[in-house]
Amino acid sequence: MGVVRAGDDPAAIAAAAELLRAGQLVAFPTETVYGLGADAFNGEAVARIFAAKGRPADNPLIVHVADEGGARAVAGAWPSLASRAAAAFWPGPLTLVVPRGPRVPDIVTAGGETVGLRVPAHPVALALMRAFAGPLAAPSANRSGRPSPTLAEHVLQDAMNVGTILDGGATDVGLESTVLDVTGEVPLVLRLGGVSLERLRAVFGAVEILRREDAGAVARSPGLRHRHYAPRARVEVVAEGEGERARARATGRVALIVRREVAGPDVFVLPADAEGFARELFAALRRMDGLGYERVIVEAIAEEGIGAAIMDRLRRAAQG
Ligand code: TXA
Ligand code: MG
Repeated sequence: MGVVRAGDDPAAIAAAAELLRAGQLVAFPTETVYGLGADAFNGEAVARIFAAKGRPADNPLIVHVADEGGARAVAGAWPSLASRAAAAFWPGPLTLVVPRGPRVPDIVTAGGETVGLRVPAHPVALALMRAFAGPLAAPSANRSGRPSPTLAEHVLQDAMNVGTILDGGATDVGLESTVLDVTGEVPLVLRLGGVSLERLRAVFGAVEILRREDAGAVARSPGLRHRHYAPRARVEVVAEGEGERARARATGRVALIVRREVAGPDVFVLPADAEGFARELFAALRRMDGLGYERVIVEAIAEEGIGAAIMDRLRRAAQG
């Protein structure tokens, strides 16, 4: 378990940086979801992340840095696409996959030749990295297979071996960062997330998207191998407006997630706009697990803007 401390307390930040120097884990807020951080250059500390989460060793971690200079110090090379992406989207919910540098331990990259890097847009995350004065390896601060935490209390719920949890309140985006491989000629999206395809295309023109069924997909995006974002209840995604009909067909304890008023029990109304929906989705899925639903029916959302990332997460959750 961990001690929850106010993320805006300078003494809490200093104490957390001290724990990181001692090789311990610190959970901290970012604008996407909470991260579970350790000294990225300390392989033993990073091993504690994998143990705490029950994370498969073949899934690499994102390294968080305070600015582009910090990213270059971790990377083995800095492609021009990386500079363009950093200028357009950092700090922000975009992770750049670039060649790894020599100081990055194998455990961070899962033995791969690339490293994922990101500058989070959150004052607590940035203050922590400045106090620690080094890069932090940090996956989402949930047990492997559970929805990512968007509140400090979600980190506590997952009962991991965390030294301290810096509480920064609810995260702003609510879904994880977009992961973009910039090692090739054309940027390749490995995971949809907080920076939409539309925004990427506005900067880069052409952008490719890795599909699960593409040759070599798992080698480039090891996260595809694993079950993700899964609540305990079985998730079913139905077309917009089909929620009540699906509920009538279903058996057992069923919850319905919609973006409009629906009569009847066990209805969770989330914000109608995609940003608001993204912000509250993971918390809603966790709440439903706590209430013991066996089944969750969610109405689909248009795949525009962050809607595409929402649908990606819902489909993965539904794969069960
Ligand atoms: O918003 C986020 O990205 C949050 C916050 C804490 O920054 N972090 C996060 O980390 O979601 P995690 O570990 O839950 O997801 C990281 C994803 C995984 O799918 C992993 O496979 C992929 O990024 N990834 C990390 N390094 C990679 C690399 N070198 N090559 C390809 N994929 C990589
Ligand atoms: Mg995760």
